[in-house]
Amino acid sequence: MTQRLTVTTRPFEGQKPGTSGLRKKVTVFQQPHYLENFVQSIFDSLPGYEGKTLVVGGDGRFHNKPAIQTILRMAAANGFGRVLVGQNGLLSTPAVSAIIRKYLAFGGIILSASHNPAGPDGDFGIKYNAENGGPAAEKLTDAIYERSKVITAYQILSQGEIDLSMAGKHQLGAMQVEVIDPVADYAELMERLFDFPRIRDLFKSGFTLRFDAMHAVTGPYAHEILENRLGAPKGTVMHGTPLEDFGGGHPDPNLVYAEELVKIMYGSNAPDFGAASDGDGDRNMILGKSFFVTPSDSLAVMAANARNIPAFQSGLTGVARSMPTNAAVDKVAEKIGIPCYETPTGWKFFGNLLDAGRISLCGEESFGTGSDHVREKDGLWAVLFWLNLLAVQKKPVADIVRAHWAEYGRNYYSRHDYEEVDATAAAALMQGIRDRFGTLNGQQFGTLMVKACDDFSYTDPVDGSVTHSQGIRILFGQGTRIVFRLSGTGTVGATLRVYMEAFEQDPARQAQDTQVALAELIVIADKVAQIRSLTGRSAPTVIT
Ligand code: G1P
Ligand code: ZN
Repeated sequence: MTQRLTVTTRPFEGQKPGTSGLRKKVTVFQQPHYLENFVQSIFDSLPGYEGKTLVVGGDGRFHNKPAIQTILRMAAANGFGRVLVGQNGLLSTPAVSAIIRKYLAFGGIILSASHNPAGPDGDFGIKYNAENGGPAAEKLTDAIYERSKVITAYQILSQGEIDLSMAGKHQLGAMQVEVIDPVADYAELMERLFDFPRIRDLFKSGFTLRFDAMHAVTGPYAHEILENRLGAPKGTVMHGTPLEDFGGGHPDPNLVYAEELVKIMYGSNAPDFGAASDGDGDRNMILGKSFFVTPSDSLAVMAANARNIPAFQSGLTGVARSMPTNAAVDKVAEKIGIPCYETPTGWKFFGNLLDAGRISLCGEESFGTGSDHVREKDGLWAVLFWLNLLAVQKKPVADIVRAHWAEYGRNYYSRHDYEEVDATAAAALMQGIRDRFGTLNGQQFGTLMVKACDDFSYTDPVDGSVTHSQGIRILFGQGTRIVFRLSGTGTVGATLRVYMEAFEQDPARQAQDTQVALAELIVIADKVAQIRSLTGRSAPTVIT
Protein backbone atom coordinates (compact mmCIF):
# COMPACT_ATOMS: atom_id res chain seq x y z
CA MET A 1 0.00 0.00 0.00
CA THR A 2 1.23 3.44 -0.89
CA GLN A 3 1.70 5.52 2.21
CA ARG A 4 2.54 9.14 2.75
CA LEU A 5 5.76 9.19 4.74
CA THR A 6 7.30 11.96 6.77
CA VAL A 7 11.03 11.33 6.64
CA THR A 8 13.27 12.88 9.26
CA THR A 9 16.28 14.69 7.83
CA ARG A 10 18.84 17.33 8.68
CA PRO A 11 20.18 20.20 6.59
CA PHE A 12 23.03 19.94 4.10
CA GLU A 13 25.36 22.86 3.73
CA GLY A 14 25.31 25.12 0.74
CA GLN A 15 21.99 24.41 -0.93
CA LYS A 16 21.99 27.95 -2.21
CA PRO A 17 20.49 28.27 -5.67
CA GLY A 18 22.55 30.47 -8.00
CA THR A 19 21.33 32.34 -11.07
CA SER A 20 20.36 29.01 -12.66
CA GLY A 21 19.23 26.95 -9.71
CA LEU A 22 21.21 24.54 -7.56
CA ARG A 23 24.12 22.93 -9.41
CA LYS A 24 26.41 20.29 -7.95
CA LYS A 25 28.19 17.12 -8.91
CA VAL A 26 25.91 14.13 -9.51
CA THR A 27 27.56 12.40 -6.56
CA VAL A 28 26.42 15.23 -4.29
CA PHE A 29 22.84 14.82 -5.50
CA GLN A 30 23.05 11.06 -4.99
CA GLN A 31 23.55 11.40 -1.24
CA PRO A 32 20.50 10.17 0.67
CA HIS A 33 18.05 13.03 1.40
CA TYR A 34 20.04 15.63 -0.60
CA LEU A 35 17.61 16.10 -3.49
CA GLU A 36 14.65 15.51 -1.19
CA ASN A 37 15.75 18.28 1.17
CA PHE A 38 16.00 20.76 -1.65
CA VAL A 39 12.69 19.81 -3.24
CA GLN A 40 10.93 20.02 0.14
CA SER A 41 12.58 23.41 0.70
CA ILE A 42 11.10 24.56 -2.61
CA PHE A 43 7.64 23.27 -1.71
CA ASP A 44 7.83 24.77 1.80
CA SER A 45 8.63 28.15 0.29
CA LEU A 46 5.64 28.17 -2.09
CA PRO A 47 2.24 29.31 -0.94
CA GLY A 48 -0.98 27.59 -1.95
CA TYR A 49 -0.14 24.92 -4.48
CA GLU A 50 -2.65 22.44 -3.04
CA GLY A 51 -4.38 20.64 -5.92
CA LYS A 52 -2.50 22.69 -8.52
CA THR A 53 -0.42 21.59 -11.53
CA LEU A 54 3.37 21.26 -11.55
CA VAL A 55 5.46 20.76 -14.70
CA VAL A 56 8.52 18.50 -14.39
CA GLY A 57 11.22 17.59 -16.88
CA GLY A 58 14.93 17.69 -17.52
CA ASP A 59 17.65 17.77 -20.10
CA GLY A 60 18.07 13.98 -20.07
CA ARG A 61 21.40 13.91 -18.32
CA PHE A 62 22.51 11.13 -15.97
CA HIS A 63 20.35 10.99 -12.79
CA ASN A 64 17.45 12.75 -14.54
CA LYS A 65 15.10 9.78 -14.37
CA PRO A 66 15.64 8.72 -10.73
CA ALA A 67 15.39 12.37 -9.67
CA ILE A 68 12.09 12.74 -11.50
CA GLN A 69 10.63 9.66 -9.81
CA THR A 70 11.57 11.11 -6.42
CA ILE A 71 10.07 14.49 -7.28
CA LEU A 72 6.83 12.87 -8.46
CA ARG A 73 6.43 10.96 -5.19
CA MET A 74 7.21 14.11 -3.22
CA ALA A 75 4.81 16.27 -5.25
CA ALA A 76 2.05 13.73 -4.59
CA ALA A 77 2.84 13.55 -0.87
CA ASN A 78 2.88 17.34 -0.63
CA GLY A 79 -0.55 17.73 -2.20
CA PHE A 80 -0.07 18.83 -5.80
CA GLY A 81 -3.11 17.89 -7.88
CA ARG A 82 -1.36 17.06 -11.11
CA VAL A 83 2.09 16.83 -12.63
CA LEU A 84 2.83 17.19 -16.33
CA VAL A 85 6.07 15.37 -17.03
CA GLY A 86 7.90 15.03 -20.34
CA GLN A 87 8.10 11.62 -21.95
CA ASN A 88 11.37 9.89 -20.99
CA GLY A 89 11.79 12.69 -18.47
CA LEU A 90 12.72 15.16 -21.21
CA LEU A 91 11.70 18.79 -21.42
CA SER A 92 13.86 21.62 -22.61
CA THR A 93 14.02 24.70 -20.39
CA PRO A 94 12.09 26.88 -22.86
CA ALA A 95 9.53 24.08 -23.34
CA VAL A 96 8.91 23.98 -19.57
CA SER A 97 8.37 27.72 -19.67
CA ALA A 98 5.95 27.40 -22.58
CA ILE A 99 4.05 24.52 -20.96
CA ILE A 100 3.70 26.30 -17.60
CA ARG A 101 2.18 29.26 -19.43
CA LYS A 102 -0.06 27.27 -21.75
CA TYR A 103 -1.59 25.09 -19.05
CA LEU A 104 -1.64 27.85 -16.39
CA ALA A 105 0.41 25.60 -14.14
CA PHE A 106 1.50 26.66 -10.67
CA GLY A 107 5.15 26.27 -11.59
CA GLY A 108 7.75 23.85 -12.82
CA ILE A 109 10.87 21.99 -11.80
CA ILE A 110 13.66 21.63 -14.35
CA LEU A 111 16.45 19.11 -13.88
CA SER A 112 19.47 20.46 -15.66
CA ALA A 113 22.96 21.80 -15.25
CA SER A 114 22.59 23.48 -18.64
CA HIS A 115 25.77 23.02 -20.68
CA ASN A 116 27.89 21.50 -17.89
CA PRO A 117 29.19 18.00 -18.70
CA ALA A 118 27.03 15.09 -17.58
CA GLY A 119 27.44 11.47 -16.53
CA PRO A 120 28.14 9.78 -13.18
CA ASP A 121 31.08 12.14 -12.59
CA GLY A 122 29.43 15.14 -14.20
CA ASP A 123 27.09 17.81 -12.93
CA PHE A 124 23.44 17.79 -12.02
CA GLY A 125 21.09 20.63 -11.26
CA ILE A 126 17.59 21.60 -10.28
CA LYS A 127 15.74 24.88 -10.72
CA TYR A 128 12.26 26.11 -10.01
CA ASN A 129 10.24 28.22 -12.42
CA ALA A 130 7.24 30.21 -11.31
CA GLU A 131 3.78 30.55 -12.82
CA ASN A 132 4.92 33.15 -15.36
CA GLY A 133 7.20 30.41 -16.73
CA GLY A 134 10.36 32.21 -15.63
CA PRO A 135 13.13 31.45 -13.15
CA ALA A 136 12.23 31.91 -9.50
CA ALA A 137 12.74 35.48 -8.28
CA GLU A 138 15.54 36.21 -5.84
CA LYS A 139 13.04 36.51 -2.97
CA LEU A 140 11.94 32.94 -3.60
CA THR A 141 15.43 31.46 -4.10
CA ASP A 142 16.51 33.18 -0.86
CA ALA A 143 13.53 31.67 0.95
CA ILE A 144 14.36 28.21 -0.46
CA TYR A 145 17.93 28.54 0.76
CA GLU A 146 16.88 29.71 4.22
CA ARG A 147 14.46 26.81 4.45
CA SER A 148 17.14 24.32 3.40
CA LYS A 149 19.25 25.44 6.37
CA VAL A 150 16.65 24.46 8.95
CA ILE A 151 14.77 21.61 7.32
CA THR A 152 13.95 18.67 9.61
CA ALA A 153 11.61 16.51 7.53
CA TYR A 154 10.20 15.91 4.06
CA GLN A 155 7.07 14.29 2.67
CA ILE A 156 7.22 11.47 0.18
CA LEU A 157 5.07 8.54 -0.93
CA SER A 158 6.43 5.17 0.16
CA GLN A 159 6.25 3.81 -3.39
CA GLY A 160 5.02 4.38 -6.93
CA GLU A 161 7.16 4.31 -10.04
CA ILE A 162 5.70 6.01 -13.11
CA ASP A 163 6.42 4.59 -16.56
CA LEU A 164 7.90 7.62 -18.32
CA SER A 165 8.51 5.85 -21.61
CA MET A 166 5.04 6.40 -23.03
CA ALA A 167 2.63 9.32 -23.08
CA GLY A 168 -0.38 8.69 -20.87
CA LYS A 169 -2.19 9.35 -17.61
CA HIS A 170 -1.35 7.72 -14.30
CA GLN A 171 -2.51 8.00 -10.72
CA LEU A 172 0.06 8.48 -7.97
CA GLY A 173 -1.65 8.55 -4.58
CA ALA A 174 -4.21 11.33 -4.92
CA MET A 175 -2.23 13.07 -7.66
CA GLN A 176 -2.55 12.69 -11.40
CA VAL A 177 0.59 12.28 -13.48
CA GLU A 178 0.36 13.03 -17.17
CA VAL A 179 3.32 11.92 -19.27
CA ILE A 180 3.28 14.33 -22.22
CA ASP A 181 4.97 14.57 -25.60
CA PRO A 182 7.83 16.97 -24.78
CA VAL A 183 7.80 18.55 -28.25
CA ALA A 184 4.15 19.00 -29.27
CA ASP A 185 3.21 22.13 -27.28
CA TYR A 186 6.50 23.84 -28.02
CA ALA A 187 6.34 23.07 -31.75
CA GLU A 188 2.80 24.41 -31.92
CA LEU A 189 3.93 27.66 -30.30
CA MET A 190 6.79 28.02 -32.81
CA GLU A 191 4.36 27.52 -35.70
CA ARG A 192 2.33 30.45 -34.42
CA LEU A 193 5.35 32.76 -34.09
CA PHE A 194 7.13 32.10 -37.36
CA ASP A 195 6.29 31.82 -41.03
CA PHE A 196 6.63 28.06 -41.40
CA PRO A 197 5.40 27.92 -45.04
CA ARG A 198 8.02 30.47 -46.04
CA ILE A 199 10.80 28.57 -44.24
CA ARG A 200 9.57 25.37 -45.92
CA ASP A 201 9.93 27.10 -49.28
CA LEU A 202 13.46 28.16 -48.33
CA PHE A 203 14.43 24.53 -47.74
CA LYS A 204 12.66 23.50 -50.97
CA SER A 205 14.83 25.97 -52.84
CA GLY A 206 17.91 24.01 -51.77
CA PHE A 207 18.94 26.07 -48.74
CA THR A 208 21.05 23.97 -46.38
CA LEU A 209 21.28 23.93 -42.58
CA ARG A 210 23.26 21.99 -40.03
CA PHE A 211 21.87 21.99 -36.51
CA ASP A 212 23.96 20.47 -33.72
CA ALA A 213 21.89 19.23 -30.78
CA MET A 214 25.09 18.13 -29.05
CA HIS A 215 23.46 14.87 -27.84
CA ALA A 216 21.34 16.94 -25.49
CA VAL A 217 17.68 17.81 -25.12
CA THR A 218 17.04 19.71 -28.37
CA GLY A 219 17.52 16.59 -30.51
CA PRO A 220 13.86 15.53 -30.51
CA TYR A 221 12.70 19.16 -30.88
CA ALA A 222 15.00 19.79 -33.83
CA HIS A 223 14.13 16.53 -35.61
CA GLU A 224 10.43 17.29 -35.32
CA ILE A 225 10.49 21.01 -36.11
CA LEU A 226 13.32 21.35 -38.61
CA GLU A 227 13.11 18.04 -40.43
CA ASN A 228 9.50 16.89 -40.04
CA ARG A 229 7.60 20.16 -40.02
CA LEU A 230 9.89 22.42 -42.04
CA GLY A 231 11.12 19.81 -44.51
CA ALA A 232 14.85 20.16 -43.97
CA PRO A 233 16.46 16.96 -45.27
CA LYS A 234 17.19 14.13 -42.84
CA GLY A 235 20.71 14.57 -41.56
CA THR A 236 20.22 18.31 -41.04
CA VAL A 237 20.18 17.62 -37.30
CA MET A 238 23.44 16.18 -36.01
CA HIS A 239 23.97 14.54 -32.60
CA GLY A 240 20.18 14.48 -32.32
CA THR A 241 19.80 11.63 -29.84
CA PRO A 242 19.89 12.77 -26.20
CA LEU A 243 22.46 10.76 -24.24
CA GLU A 244 22.86 10.63 -20.47
CA ASP A 245 26.47 11.77 -20.75
CA PHE A 246 25.88 13.99 -23.81
CA GLY A 247 28.23 11.64 -25.66
CA GLY A 248 31.06 12.69 -23.36
CA GLY A 249 30.88 16.21 -24.77
CA HIS A 250 30.37 19.61 -23.29
CA PRO A 251 27.07 20.78 -24.76
CA ASP A 252 27.81 24.46 -24.79
CA PRO A 253 27.28 25.94 -28.23
CA ASN A 254 30.40 28.02 -28.69
CA LEU A 255 33.40 27.95 -30.99
CA VAL A 256 35.36 25.70 -28.66
CA TYR A 257 32.82 23.08 -27.62
CA ALA A 258 30.83 22.85 -30.87
CA GLU A 259 34.06 22.11 -32.66
CA GLU A 260 32.64 19.57 -35.11
CA LEU A 261 29.93 21.94 -36.35
CA VAL A 262 32.40 24.81 -36.54
CA LYS A 263 34.68 22.68 -38.73
CA ILE A 264 31.81 21.91 -41.08
CA MET A 265 30.80 25.57 -41.28
CA TYR A 266 34.35 26.68 -42.03
CA GLY A 267 34.93 23.81 -44.49
CA SER A 268 34.76 23.86 -48.26
CA ASN A 269 31.25 22.40 -48.52
CA ALA A 270 29.74 24.44 -45.75
CA PRO A 271 25.95 24.61 -45.59
CA ASP A 272 24.26 28.02 -45.80
CA PHE A 273 23.45 28.16 -42.13
CA GLY A 274 24.76 26.48 -38.98
CA ALA A 275 23.36 26.49 -35.48
CA ALA A 276 23.63 24.67 -32.18
CA SER A 277 21.94 24.59 -28.81
CA ASP A 278 23.05 23.58 -25.34
CA GLY A 279 22.24 20.87 -22.78
CA ASP A 280 18.80 22.16 -21.80
CA GLY A 281 17.99 23.95 -25.04
CA ASP A 282 18.02 27.57 -23.97
CA ARG A 283 21.22 28.70 -25.69
CA ASN A 284 21.95 29.18 -29.36
CA MET A 285 24.93 29.68 -31.62
CA ILE A 286 24.45 31.12 -35.10
CA LEU A 287 26.91 30.56 -37.94
CA GLY A 288 27.04 31.38 -41.62
CA LYS A 289 29.51 30.00 -44.17
CA SER A 290 32.90 30.63 -42.52
CA PHE A 291 31.20 33.21 -40.35
CA PHE A 292 30.42 33.37 -36.65
CA VAL A 293 27.67 35.66 -35.44
CA THR A 294 28.62 37.06 -32.05
CA PRO A 295 25.54 36.53 -29.83
CA SER A 296 25.37 40.23 -28.96
CA ASP A 297 25.34 41.06 -32.68
CA SER A 298 22.72 38.39 -33.27
CA LEU A 299 20.44 40.16 -30.79
CA ALA A 300 20.97 43.47 -32.57
CA VAL A 301 20.31 41.98 -36.02
CA MET A 302 17.13 40.37 -34.70
CA ALA A 303 15.96 43.67 -33.24
CA ALA A 304 16.68 45.54 -36.47
CA ASN A 305 14.82 42.98 -38.59
CA ALA A 306 12.06 41.98 -36.19
CA ARG A 307 9.32 43.05 -38.58
CA ASN A 308 10.34 40.20 -40.89
CA ILE A 309 8.86 37.84 -38.29
CA PRO A 310 5.07 37.35 -38.07
CA ALA A 311 5.16 37.55 -34.24
CA PHE A 312 6.73 41.01 -34.44
CA GLN A 313 4.95 42.40 -37.47
CA SER A 314 3.80 45.41 -35.50
CA GLY A 315 7.27 46.04 -34.07
CA LEU A 316 8.95 45.66 -30.69
CA THR A 317 7.82 47.38 -27.48
CA GLY A 318 11.38 47.52 -26.16
CA VAL A 319 14.57 45.51 -25.88
CA ALA A 320 16.95 44.52 -23.10
CA ARG A 321 20.44 43.13 -22.82
CA SER A 322 22.54 42.03 -19.89
CA MET A 323 25.20 44.54 -18.87
CA PRO A 324 28.21 42.56 -20.23
CA THR A 325 26.44 42.06 -23.60
CA ASN A 326 27.76 44.43 -26.25
CA ALA A 327 25.81 47.58 -26.93
CA ALA A 328 24.95 46.83 -30.58
CA VAL A 329 21.27 46.47 -29.75
CA ASP A 330 21.27 49.87 -28.04
CA LYS A 331 21.97 51.51 -31.40
CA VAL A 332 19.06 49.70 -33.00
CA ALA A 333 16.72 50.67 -30.18
CA GLU A 334 17.82 54.28 -30.47
CA LYS A 335 17.20 54.32 -34.20
CA ILE A 336 13.72 52.81 -34.04
CA GLY A 337 12.88 54.81 -30.93
CA ILE A 338 12.13 52.10 -28.39
CA PRO A 339 13.46 51.70 -24.84
CA CYS A 340 16.56 49.61 -24.22
CA TYR A 341 17.26 48.23 -20.73
CA GLU A 342 20.61 47.13 -19.35
CA THR A 343 20.13 44.42 -16.71
CA PRO A 344 22.40 42.24 -14.58
CA THR A 345 23.44 38.86 -15.99
CA GLY A 346 20.79 36.15 -15.73
CA TRP A 347 17.42 35.70 -17.34
CA LYS A 348 15.30 36.45 -14.30
CA PHE A 349 15.89 40.18 -14.67
CA PHE A 350 14.29 40.12 -18.11
CA GLY A 351 11.23 38.39 -16.65
CA ASN A 352 9.89 41.48 -14.90
CA LEU A 353 10.34 43.61 -18.02
CA LEU A 354 8.64 40.98 -20.19
CA ASP A 355 5.76 40.52 -17.72
CA ALA A 356 5.24 44.28 -17.62
CA GLY A 357 5.17 44.43 -21.42
CA ARG A 358 8.13 46.81 -21.47
CA ILE A 359 10.21 44.64 -23.78
CA SER A 360 9.49 42.00 -26.37
CA LEU A 361 13.06 40.92 -27.20
CA CYS A 362 16.12 40.39 -25.02
CA GLY A 363 19.42 38.63 -24.92
CA GLU A 364 22.80 37.98 -23.40
CA GLU A 365 26.29 37.67 -24.80
CA SER A 366 26.39 34.12 -23.46
CA PHE A 367 24.49 32.68 -26.43
CA GLY A 368 21.07 33.45 -24.99
CA THR A 369 18.26 35.18 -26.85
CA GLY A 370 14.55 35.22 -26.23
CA SER A 371 11.28 37.08 -26.41
CA ASP A 372 7.94 37.48 -24.73
CA HIS A 373 6.75 34.09 -26.02
CA VAL A 374 8.24 32.42 -22.90
CA ARG A 375 10.17 33.57 -19.83
CA GLU A 376 13.46 31.82 -20.60
CA LYS A 377 16.02 32.21 -23.30
CA ASP A 378 15.20 29.89 -26.15
CA GLY A 379 17.74 28.20 -28.40
CA LEU A 380 15.57 26.75 -31.16
CA TRP A 381 13.40 29.84 -31.20
CA ALA A 382 16.50 31.89 -32.06
CA VAL A 383 17.39 29.46 -34.84
CA LEU A 384 13.86 29.72 -36.24
CA PHE A 385 14.02 33.52 -36.00
CA TRP A 386 17.17 33.48 -38.14
CA LEU A 387 15.67 30.96 -40.55
CA ASN A 388 12.61 33.18 -40.97
CA LEU A 389 14.89 36.17 -41.52
CA LEU A 390 16.95 34.31 -44.10
CA ALA A 391 13.77 33.10 -45.83
CA VAL A 392 12.60 36.72 -46.18
CA GLN A 393 15.90 38.38 -47.07
CA LYS A 394 17.44 35.58 -49.15
CA LYS A 395 20.97 36.80 -48.39
CA PRO A 396 23.87 34.96 -46.79
CA VAL A 397 24.20 35.26 -43.00
CA ALA A 398 27.52 37.11 -43.33
CA ASP A 399 26.04 39.71 -45.70
CA ILE A 400 23.19 40.45 -43.30
CA VAL A 401 25.60 41.00 -40.40
CA ARG A 402 28.07 43.08 -42.42
CA ALA A 403 25.27 45.28 -43.72
CA HIS A 404 24.17 45.72 -40.14
CA TRP A 405 27.67 46.85 -39.10
CA ALA A 406 27.86 49.25 -42.01
CA GLU A 407 24.65 50.87 -40.88
CA TYR A 408 25.04 50.87 -37.10
CA GLY A 409 28.77 50.44 -36.57
CA ARG A 410 30.52 47.32 -35.29
CA ASN A 411 30.98 46.52 -31.63
CA TYR A 412 34.12 44.38 -31.58
CA TYR A 413 33.54 42.07 -28.68
CA SER A 414 35.11 39.13 -26.93
CA ARG A 415 34.82 37.28 -23.64
CA HIS A 416 37.82 35.62 -22.01
CA ASP A 417 37.04 33.01 -19.38
CA TYR A 418 39.44 31.72 -16.76
CA GLU A 419 37.75 28.58 -15.50
CA GLU A 420 38.26 26.76 -12.22
CA VAL A 421 40.59 29.34 -10.73
CA ASP A 422 41.11 29.43 -6.99
CA ALA A 423 37.99 31.04 -5.48
CA THR A 424 39.89 33.08 -2.91
CA ALA A 425 42.29 34.42 -5.52
CA ALA A 426 39.39 35.35 -7.78
CA ALA A 427 37.59 37.20 -5.00
CA ALA A 428 40.81 39.03 -4.13
CA LEU A 429 41.30 40.01 -7.76
CA MET A 430 37.84 41.57 -7.93
CA GLN A 431 38.26 43.35 -4.60
CA GLY A 432 41.65 44.58 -5.72
CA ILE A 433 40.08 46.39 -8.67
CA ARG A 434 37.33 47.89 -6.53
CA ASP A 435 39.92 49.14 -4.08
CA ARG A 436 41.69 50.91 -6.94
CA PHE A 437 38.66 52.65 -8.48
CA GLY A 438 40.02 55.97 -7.21
CA THR A 439 43.41 55.69 -8.92
CA LEU A 440 42.03 53.99 -12.03
CA ASN A 441 39.72 56.87 -12.73
CA GLY A 442 41.48 59.13 -15.21
CA GLN A 443 44.42 56.75 -15.60
CA GLN A 444 45.97 56.59 -19.08
CA PHE A 445 46.69 53.18 -20.63
CA GLY A 446 48.44 53.59 -24.00
CA THR A 447 45.98 55.42 -26.24
CA LEU A 448 43.07 54.90 -23.87
CA MET A 449 42.06 56.72 -20.71
CA VAL A 450 39.69 55.41 -18.04
CA LYS A 451 36.68 57.73 -18.10
CA ALA A 452 34.74 55.97 -15.34
CA CYS A 453 34.68 52.76 -13.36
CA ASP A 454 32.07 51.20 -11.12
CA ASP A 455 30.51 48.04 -9.79
CA PHE A 456 27.26 47.66 -11.72
CA SER A 457 24.05 48.07 -9.72
CA TYR A 458 20.58 47.67 -11.14
CA THR A 459 17.31 49.13 -10.00
CA ASP A 460 14.46 47.13 -11.44
CA PRO A 461 12.20 49.67 -13.16
CA VAL A 462 9.14 47.51 -12.51
CA ASP A 463 9.39 46.60 -8.82
CA GLY A 464 12.11 48.99 -7.65
CA SER A 465 14.31 46.22 -6.24
CA VAL A 466 18.04 46.93 -6.27
CA THR A 467 20.76 44.39 -7.14
CA HIS A 468 24.37 45.25 -6.33
CA SER A 469 27.84 44.06 -7.39
CA GLN A 470 26.90 42.75 -10.82
CA GLY A 471 30.27 43.23 -12.46
CA ILE A 472 33.06 45.78 -12.56
CA ARG A 473 33.00 48.17 -15.50
CA ILE A 474 36.04 50.03 -16.72
CA LEU A 475 34.76 52.56 -19.25
CA PHE A 476 37.03 54.29 -21.76
CA GLY A 477 34.34 56.28 -23.55
CA GLN A 478 32.81 55.88 -27.02
CA GLY A 479 31.66 52.37 -26.32
CA THR A 480 35.07 51.01 -25.38
CA ARG A 481 35.09 49.11 -22.11
CA ILE A 482 36.27 46.15 -20.07
CA VAL A 483 34.00 44.27 -17.69
CA PHE A 484 35.13 41.86 -14.97
CA ARG A 485 32.67 39.40 -13.44
CA LEU A 486 32.76 36.18 -11.49
CA SER A 487 30.50 33.45 -12.81
CA GLY A 488 27.51 32.44 -10.73
CA THR A 489 27.01 29.08 -12.40
CA GLY A 490 30.27 27.15 -12.05
CA THR A 491 30.59 24.16 -9.72
CA VAL A 492 34.37 24.07 -9.20
CA GLY A 493 36.40 27.00 -7.85
CA ALA A 494 35.61 30.31 -9.53
CA THR A 495 35.34 31.37 -13.14
CA LEU A 496 36.58 34.84 -13.99
CA ARG A 497 34.95 36.38 -17.03
CA VAL A 498 36.58 39.32 -18.77
CA TYR A 499 34.44 41.04 -21.40
CA MET A 500 36.05 43.45 -23.86
CA GLU A 501 34.30 45.79 -26.26
CA ALA A 502 35.42 48.45 -28.73
CA PHE A 503 33.16 50.34 -31.10
CA GLU A 504 34.07 50.95 -34.75
CA GLN A 505 31.88 53.15 -36.92
CA ASP A 506 34.11 53.17 -40.01
CA PRO A 507 33.13 50.34 -42.41
CA ALA A 508 36.70 50.29 -43.75
CA ARG A 509 37.87 49.20 -40.30
CA GLN A 510 35.16 46.64 -39.59
CA ALA A 511 36.82 43.58 -41.12
CA GLN A 512 39.58 43.05 -38.57
CA ASP A 513 40.02 39.88 -36.59
CA THR A 514 38.28 40.37 -33.25
CA GLN A 515 41.25 39.46 -31.06
CA VAL A 516 43.46 41.77 -33.10
CA ALA A 517 40.99 44.63 -32.87
CA LEU A 518 40.83 44.13 -29.10
CA ALA A 519 44.56 43.50 -28.55
CA GLU A 520 45.17 46.71 -26.66
CA LEU A 521 42.19 46.13 -24.35
CA ILE A 522 43.35 42.58 -23.64
CA VAL A 523 46.68 43.91 -22.39
CA ILE A 524 44.99 46.63 -20.33
CA ALA A 525 42.64 44.06 -18.75
CA ASP A 526 45.62 42.17 -17.39
CA LYS A 527 47.23 45.36 -16.13
CA VAL A 528 44.07 46.48 -14.37
CA ALA A 529 43.21 43.13 -12.79
CA GLN A 530 46.64 41.47 -12.48
CA ILE A 531 45.08 38.34 -13.91
CA ARG A 532 48.32 36.50 -14.62
CA SER A 533 49.96 37.08 -11.31
CA LEU A 534 46.86 36.63 -9.14
CA THR A 535 45.44 33.53 -10.85
CA GLY A 536 48.69 31.99 -12.05
CA ARG A 537 47.13 31.63 -15.52
CA SER A 538 48.96 32.80 -18.60
CA ALA A 539 45.96 32.50 -20.92
CA PRO A 540 42.17 32.18 -20.76
CA THR A 541 40.54 28.73 -20.78
CA VAL A 542 37.91 29.75 -23.32
CA ILE A 543 37.81 32.69 -25.69
CA THR A 544 34.55 33.59 -27.39
C1 G1P B 1 26.23 32.23 -17.42
C2 G1P B 1 26.11 33.33 -18.43
C3 G1P B 1 24.83 34.10 -18.19
C4 G1P B 1 23.64 33.14 -18.22
C5 G1P B 1 23.88 32.00 -17.24
C6 G1P B 1 22.80 30.95 -17.35
O1 G1P B 1 26.26 32.76 -16.13
O2 G1P B 1 27.22 34.20 -18.39
O3 G1P B 1 24.70 35.09 -19.16
O4 G1P B 1 22.47 33.81 -17.89
O5 G1P B 1 25.12 31.38 -17.51
O6 G1P B 1 22.78 30.34 -18.61
P1 G1P B 1 27.62 33.02 -15.32
O7 G1P B 1 28.31 31.69 -15.27
O8 G1P B 1 28.38 34.01 -16.11
O9 G1P B 1 27.14 33.53 -14.00
ZN1 ZN C 1 21.25 26.17 -20.81
